This record gives sequence, C-alpha cells and structure tokens, in this order.
Amino acid sequence: MTVAIERAEKYDLRVPRYTSYPTAPHFGASVDAGIYSGWLATLDPGAPLSVYVHIPFCDEMCWFCGCWTKIVKRYEPIRSYLDALHGEISLVAAALPARMDVRHLHFGGGSPTMLAPEDWLALTGALGRSFTLAPDVEIAVELDPRDATEEYIAALAQAGVTRASIGVQDFDPKVQLAINRIQPFDVVERVVGWLRRHGIADVNLDLMYGLPHQTEAKVEAMVDLALRLAPARVALFGYAHVPWMKSHQKLIDETTLPGAVERLRQFATASARLASAGYRAVGLDHFARPDDGLSAALAAGRLHRNFQGYTADDAPTLIGLGASAIGTLPQGYVQNAQPLADYRRAIEAGRLPTVRGIALSADDRLRRAIIERLMCNLRVDLDAVCREKGIQADALAAERASLEPLAADGLVRLDGGEIVVTEAGRPFVRLVAAAFDAYLQPGAARHSRAV
Ligand SMILES: C[S@@+](CC[C@H](N)C(=O)[O-])C[C@H]1O[C@@H](n2cnc3c(N)ncnc32)[C@H](O)[C@@H]1O
Repeated sequence: MTVAIERAEKYDLRVPRYTSYPTAPHFGASVDAGIYSGWLATLDPGAPLSVYVHIPFCDEMCWFCGCWTKIVKRYEPIRSYLDALHGEISLVAAALPARMDVRHLHFGGGSPTMLAPEDWLALTGALGRSFTLAPDVEIAVELDPRDATEEYIAALAQAGVTRASIGVQDFDPKVQLAINRIQPFDVVERVVGWLRRHGIADVNLDLMYGLPHQTEAKVEAMVDLALRLAPARVALFGYAHVPWMKSHQKLIDETTLPGAVERLRQFATASARLASAGYRAVGLDHFARPDDGLSAALAAGRLHRNFQGYTADDAPTLIGLGASAIGTLPQGYVQNAQPLADYRRAIEAGRLPTVRGIALSADDRLRRAIIERLMCNLRVDLDAVCREKGIQADALAAERASLEPLAADGLVRLDGGEIVVTEAGRPFVRLVAAAFDAYLQPGAARHSRAV
C-alpha cells in the first residue's frame, strides 16, 4: 500500500465508477419506449429476472448525497408516485413474453423506508401478481435507520424483506454534523437488533471515507463500531464530491475534506481493519463475511457489478422500475424519465416511461466484459475474452500498452494477455478499467475522484 499512497496524488484522476458500460452519460434518446417494449417482448421467458425499484423520496437532505431523490414533508407525493409505479409494473408485465421468475428484488432510493407499512405490502403484492417471486427470492431494502421503528421493521419482514442495507456513513458526531446526518451508534444498533429479531438476518452497512473532518483514526473507530454489529457486508464508499452536479453538496465546507493521500490512507486503514476481522475484500469497495453469498460468488468467479454495486445475482435482465431507474437487458440499457411529473405523465398515457438508453454494439460488449471482470475479479484474461467474443487478440494491444505506467508503479501486472490488478492497485481499479473505455474523453465529463 505504500507505493499506492505515494501515487495517490499522481493518479488523482476523475473516472467513472463503471456500474455499467457504456456509462449513463452516454445513453441517448434513440432508445425509447417502443424499443424497450420490443426488447422486453423478445426476452427468454425461461430466464430469471432481477427487479430494481427506485423510491426517490427522503424527509431530509443529507449534504453528501449523490443519489437522485426529492425531499418531501407530506405523504401525498409518495402516494401518487406509488399509483404510477403500480401502473408501470402492469405495463412491463404486459410487455413480457410470459409471466417470468424474479429471484432478486432491490428497493433503492432515496429512502424506500419513506413508504408506509401498508404500501410495502401493496407493492410487493403487486410485484407478486405480475411476476413469479421465487420461493428463495432475495428482497433487499436500503434503510434509513432514523426512520425506523420496531413496528416498521416487523412490516418489512411481513412484506418478505430478507436483506437490509443500512445507511450509516460515519458514527462520529462532528462528521455527522458536517453532512447533516445525525445518527448516533445506538440508533443503528437498535435497528440491527430489531431486524434480527424479526428474521431479516442479512444486514449490510454503508460506510464512507473521504467525508468532511474524517481522519484515519476516526475511520478506524468507525469500522470498529460497525464490526460490533457483525454485518454480513460492508460497503466502504469513497465520498464523491460533485457539487457541479449536486448543488446541496456546496453546503459542505471543502476545506474540511481530506485530500487524495489522506483518502487513500483512510481506505487502507479501514480495509486492513475489516480484513483482520475476517471480511473478504470484494471488488473496489465492498467487504463480505466469509459466510455471505458475495464471498462465495467472488470465490466462484460469479460476482457481477450493477447499479447497486456488487451482486451475486447473475440474472441476464434487470428491470428498473420508478423514475430515473436504469434497466439492463441482453440488448442494452434503458433509463426511465425524471423528473417525477414526466414519469407519471407517460404512465398515465399508458406508455412505458423509457426516455433514453443504449443498444450494445459488439465493441461495447467486448469492453463491457473486460471492465466487469476487472471491477469484480481485479483480473482479466484479454486473450480469453477476445476469443469468446470472436475478436483478434491483438485488437486491444494499444489499451494494454497504455497500462505500462501503472505496471511500472506496481498497480497492475501485465502477464502476457492477462492483466492482474495488484493489492496495492485495488483502490485504482477504476483507472485500469478506464483504459478500456472507448467513450472516455479526458476532460470531457467531470467524474468523482478515482480513489
Ligand atoms: C442510494 S443511498 C440510499 C440510502 C438511504 N437513503 C440512507 O441514507 O440511509 C445508498 C448509499 O450511497 C452512499 N452515497 C450516497 N451519496 C454518496 C456520495 N456522494 N459518495 C459516495 N457514496 C454515496 C451512502 O453510503 C448511502 O448510504
């Protein structure tokens, strides 16, 4: 890690997080509701689906937030959004060639926990009527612990929720104040206790580094507290400060943000602590207990990357429901309308709310396979991927050669056709993936820090 820390400033570049390839800024209006409907109709009815449902509401703005959400003080906007969501479920189900199986259902946001308990039952009920929920379906929910009561957790359990990802960020009071997210440790501890008591055994914690006032010592203390809760998974996100895209982030005093070297030290300290507690490092920023499905998927080479991060789910199609939601199909990516009024209007007119996307070319598929292997396994055999895609092995010689400076710095090993990201290079894996991104124009789009 020493080499990497020395290189943090040199490689303090801005590159995408590669939750998709091509990335969302390259989606265009040529993929619309008509194209999506055609794609849905030709899906293999025997293949399973994953479903992502976006709930874009919160009751308070966290100043660090990089997600697409809306602050609401009344329930009425949520109620009318849910009407539209129910409409979209019916439209999508009607466009499929048959009733299809769902093995993985993820509710993200925003804060899905803004939904009233009865609306959880109504929503999972509607999904269960339109799709066949597998007996072992995983139903995962992003949970804001400040909103939760024990009755609420019981309602989630009754709706079939099996996994909860709790937004923690940091337990330190000064950091919490600087990000407008006051949430002491005992609030989180109490919610974890309720989840386990009601049978929601899989508990993930979202932690962050690079936040205002964070130091290595504070990050270590944060991880120690998190470990007391024995989470199945930990996501350790580097704070993405993009105030030109998220204007509320301007409320964060930039002079209190750690620099590139400090960020890398914080990541290194937190990862070492998690590793010494027995957690497996998964990809760029996840950690899993050895008994969690993500560890098994990593060991078996079955790990995948999607818009929620890393997953063991290998369904070829992800249906995105809700405003701004992104779907992945064998043919390409689709994204729904936002703002809310546009989303609702489409559904009220009986149309799928798809407004942009991209159809994958053969070149996109090749590069996507390479980028996903790098982001998941930290290694890729270029020759094998080219062979599998029927492309000449030397087609990517220039991209491979562009990694030589990273190899000289010990961040990757170039072993014939094989590219291996070293342990020191793990925090820089986005840079390695970027070498294969045909859309990336230096300086054209502004992304968050690579580390
Ligand atoms: C989509 S958010 C929803 C979580 C939920 N609303 C909550 O706050 O409890 C999921 C996670 O994304 C991470 N996140 C949000 N904004 C981020 C940013 N600007 N940079 C890095 N991670 C971020 C946070 O760790 C957050 O818990």
